[in-house]
Amino acid sequence: MIAVYPGSFDPMTNGHLDLIERAASVFDEVIVAIAPNVGKEPLFTVEERREMLSEVCRGLRNVSVDSFDGLLVSYVQKKNARVIVKGLRAVSDFQYEFEMALTNRRLAPSVETVFLMTSADYSYLSSSLVKEIAALGGSVQGLAPESVEEKLKQRLQEAVRRDTP
Ligand code: PNS
Repeated sequence: MIAVYPGSFDPMTNGHLDLIERAASVFDEVIVAIAPNVGKEPLFTVEERREMLSEVCRGLRNVSVDSFDGLLVSYVQKKNARVIVKGLRAVSDFQYEFEMALTNRRLAPSVETVFLMTSADYSYLSSSLVKEIAALGGSVQGLAPESVEEKLKQRLQEAVRRDTP
């Protein structure tokens, strides 16, 4: 069975990686699908996010990385997948995820949303938190893959250079 794991991944964290590995052990094929950020200015372009995810997922033989525009359920159907995989970190995720799952079911009743619990180690982790720590000069070691950590540092240094007269 093919599953689609959608998200912004701006940037990916170790929490995302944990979810991808769990999904890859359950489903025959997992497509990690990057959605453009609607209404948010992203730190990384879709192409940059795709490169980071592809590099980190290289060793996972049944995982591929892609991006999509438009409705998630249309993309899922185009890929002949039947399942959307989402991660649940804490109760605070539930309301938002519940609304999205029901909306997606309304749009495409044959597509199921399956929730996997993140590992307790990453239950508090988000891309926003990782970006904030890095922007304020903290270390994100252990929170994001090393290659992502490097890209974050580069991007934030570029921003400092741009803003320094
Ligand atoms: O990582 P995120 O930002 O929580 O991911 C949210 C995402 C990309 C899964 C969600 O915004 C999405 O599905 N976007 C595609 C547009 C869509 O289908 N919207 C209607 C579904 S509620």
